[in-house]
Amino acid sequence: MNVRPRINRWTQSRRNLIFDLSIKSSLVQPHFIVSGEGIDEPISSMPGINRQSVDKLIETISNDMELGICSHMLFPVVDEHDKDSYASKASDMNMPLQIAVKELKKMYGNDIVLFTDVCLCTATDHGHCGIIHEHEIDNEMSVSELCKIALSHAEAGADYVSASDMMDGRIQAIREVLESEGFVKTGILAYSVKYASSFYGPFRDAACSAPSFGDRGSHQMDVRSGYPEAILEAVTDEGEGADIIMIKPSLTYLDVVRQVSDVVSRPVAIFNVSGEYSMVISATPDDASRKKMVREIFHSFKRAGADVIVSYHTREAVTKDWL
Ligand code: PBG
Ligand code: ZN
Repeated sequence: MNVRPRINRWTQSRRNLIFDLSIKSSLVQPHFIVSGEGIDEPISSMPGINRQSVDKLIETISNDMELGICSHMLFPVVDEHDKDSYASKASDMNMPLQIAVKELKKMYGNDIVLFTDVCLCTATDHGHCGIIHEHEIDNEMSVSELCKIALSHAEAGADYVSASDMMDGRIQAIREVLESEGFVKTGILAYSVKYASSFYGPFRDAACSAPSFGDRGSHQMDVRSGYPEAILEAVTDEGEGADIIMIKPSLTYLDVVRQVSDVVSRPVAIFNVSGEYSMVISATPDDASRKKMVREIFHSFKRAGADVIVSYHTREAVTKDWL
């Protein structure tokens, strides 16, 4: 079975995130998780966002939950000495991301919506999003590793495994693995329309995931590509069983969000990426100017057709009651 429409309805918190029309209930806060204890380390290229060990992450998310931020996206940051050419650590149940998901689900159950990033680049020693074979990213070898990672996140209790890699056929492969292991409530967020963008720089600092050679042009979409390819990617992932279709980055692709959201019947998410966040932070010297800019940006996402908004501005916007 590829499509399980019940997945997006399974919990009240999923329904609030996806179907409520307000901006506040559409927001997802991203987090970066490192190993160790007591670590709460600012990321210089993303003021206001930290890398945190599991204990600190749980404190932060507990505060967020009290503020009414119920949806969270978790990115693993893997220690250099744990990286290898197969990203083996990414699917290890004893890694900080898997431990954090288990812990948060124990604490919050169905009141929290947890998205987990499924990609290889944070755990490969070369920083690419796939397995390299004969000097190229091998699609099928990469997909089989992605399936292992997605399964480990589902086992930990993730609500949505979020495939950010852009390999062909990975949504169908992940769906089949989830089905065969009995995970019929675990959703798949597909980064369907992900461009090889220059706006990911601060994220790669944060996640230590910049490729050590070459770029991501062989899998992420060409920034010059028009609507037909975006629609092809979105419709293909929808057919393979994606529960949410993501477009990324956001500000330079609002036209694509409109085109895609007019065509697909699954909810659409938009990723307000790290470079966009950092641009806003450096352009706004005070709260008042930032409030106006962030509100204007969030409204543009809704107008373009986004149901779900992943943004590093979430916590500040909710805490300061900007919405
Ligand atoms: C990993 C991944 C990236 C982002 C999300 N998942 C970086 C990349 O593709 O290099 C970017 C997020 C951001 O810039 O905020 N595949
Ligand atoms: Zn990647």
